[in-house]
Amino acid sequence: MQLKKGELITVNITKIAFGGAGIGHYNGKVVFIENTVPGDTVNAHVTRIKPSFLEAKKDTLITPSPLRITPRCTHFNTCGGCSFQYVDYTDQLRFKEEHVAEALTHLGAFTNPPMRPITACNSPWFYRNKMEFSFSMNKDDTLHVGLHPKGFRYDVFDLRECYLQHEDIGPLLTSLVTFFREKGMQAYHFTENAGLLRTLTIREGIHTNERMIILTTSHKPFKHKEDFVHHLLNSTTNKKPTSIILKQHIARKGHRTRFITETLYGKPHLTEEMNVNKTHKLTFNILPDAFFQPNTKQAELLYKHVLTLSEIDKNDVVYDLFCGTGTIGLFCAHKAKYVFGFDINANAIKNAQENADNNGITNVRYEAGDAFKLIKHRQDNPQVVIVDPPRSGLGEKLYNHLLTIQAQKIIYVSCNPATLARDLSHLCKHGYTLKVVQPVDMFPQTYHIETVCQLIKQ
Ligand SMILES: C[S@@+](CC[C@H](N)C(=O)[O-])C[C@H]1O[C@@H](n2cnc3c(N)ncnc32)[C@H](O)[C@@H]1O
Repeated sequence: MQLKKGELITVNITKIAFGGAGIGHYNGKVVFIENTVPGDTVNAHVTRIKPSFLEAKKDTLITPSPLRITPRCTHFNTCGGCSFQYVDYTDQLRFKEEHVAEALTHLGAFTNPPMRPITACNSPWFYRNKMEFSFSMNKDDTLHVGLHPKGFRYDVFDLRECYLQHEDIGPLLTSLVTFFREKGMQAYHFTENAGLLRTLTIREGIHTNERMIILTTSHKPFKHKEDFVHHLLNSTTNKKPTSIILKQHIARKGHRTRFITETLYGKPHLTEEMNVNKTHKLTFNILPDAFFQPNTKQAELLYKHVLTLSEIDKNDVVYDLFCGTGTIGLFCAHKAKYVFGFDINANAIKNAQENADNNGITNVRYEAGDAFKLIKHRQDNPQVVIVDPPRSGLGEKLYNHLLTIQAQKIIYVSCNPATLARDLSHLCKHGYTLKVVQPVDMFPQTYHIETVCQLIKQ
């Protein structure tokens, strides 16, 4: 009998997919079911039927997996953020290692990829240095601030606790929503382009103990600047901010979107430090919108792996492709003759050059634009090429060009095991050998995994 949508099926979950869904089999087909753990037996309704796989929605947990633990956060079933919180941290690490190894084996056709044990996070809770919260009036026409429930784009649930950023985030948001409600302020409504409050972003300097609070509003005037600052500086429930920023996001149909940023209190940037080694640290001035790795301490470990695996010599020219605000190249600069960084985001490149200047690093140069277009005619002959592309990977033109550059080493930093496997497979078919695969857990409690790979020219 042919399977129909909505049908109830019984599935034993055997694995976890990258993305967090549990995997089982039904009638010879792979089935993906959210909110399940290897070892669970569940009844689930079929929601999608494809020639090679099925998707189903969990209905009843018939037998829970022995791996299941009680999630720490009361928002776990509502919030989509921490999809791995229902298993112990050591199991999370094992799943992540398996994701990387399986992607390299099945998608990259590597037999026995040279995996190193995953670098765990010493503090798997309260590690994020940045979170953005949204405002909404929901259906009850009352102001709420927090995160979107799983599957919702506009509604938000009031966040009372969160174990990813600073411990005071719950009380801080609770006191702020009370403040905004008392002032009669409304959340911005996208379709009607009405209302005021859009988002609230909190950034932390993990090593500097600084905090920046960025309130993003609509085109409407924010009339309570002084009271807002006073409230944040005098509230007893939260850590005091060192910067309070108001960012107006002005969007009107038929007009170019504009942003006006105003420092209401303190410094216009957040200062964060990163330790390269025991005696050498770098300082970064991060503007409200600038990208910075969201887990400072784990980013130090990630970059240390890059530095060790790149084995840079004082005569080496290094390319830092997809360099963002330049952090990886700045970590490496003291070992190299010269570092050239390239990124498509012109603001990030401006920030990278400022970061180099602030740290007195003179042997780096940055250029904004598409990485492939910028390097295709250059003649620098780098000995080491470091790449840290977005989820989509390198792209055909760039990896083909890397083959013509013939650098002695390529260090590939990736946030997506599937595109990593594809790109490594291509590079290794054309003259490179994969020597080291080093997974690093940057985002405990979530399915995300970062990997650093070392490729050596044969
Ligand atoms: C994963 S981030 C890497 C950031 C940086 N390496 C770091 O550790 O902070 C990917 C970067 O690729 C950049 N990017 C995306 N497409 C690009 C392209 N075609 N050429 C150059 N840079 C690109 C983005 O602006 C972003 O900064």
